[in-house]
Amino acid sequence: MAVRNIRKEGDPVLRKKSRAVERIDDRIGMLLDDMNETMKLAEGVGLAAPQVGVLKRVIIVDIGEGPIELINPQIMDTEGSKVEEEGCLSIPGKSGKVRRPYRVKVRGLDRTGKDIEVEGEGLLARALCHEIDHLDGILFVDRVIEDEGR
Ligand code: NI
Repeated sequence: MAVRNIRKEGDPVLRKKSRAVERIDDRIGMLLDDMNETMKLAEGVGLAAPQVGVLKRVIIVDIGEGPIELINPQIMDTEGSKVEEEGCLSIPGKSGKVRRPYRVKVRGLDRTGKDIEVEGEGLLARALCHEIDHLDGILFVDRVIEDEGR
């Protein structure tokens, strides 16, 4: 495993659309391992592959209940909404209020290629939506409804 460099706002890779993963192989497993290590060191609650410069639809989320890994994640259902403060490892020192669904159901593949479904509410729902946004080149600052801090 290796810690990878987290790309910061202004890096064009963060604005690109990531490609679906067509074949799950050892390289995807290695990418996930590196993303976990990178996120842990940075003390984040989520990380998307484009944040380490890889334009593949891969995300990880860990809100303190253990890591959730999703390949080709898709939001299947949402319920309610909530405005909370949000930040991003790619935009250090910045935060802002963003409206996200209160509850989401996400489908994707795990690292073995098995279909999985994750349901989350509150912070987990927020983190899932934030990371999936990264796969489409969307940053939380695009969705801020009220600036906090800088
Ligand atoms: Ni982010």
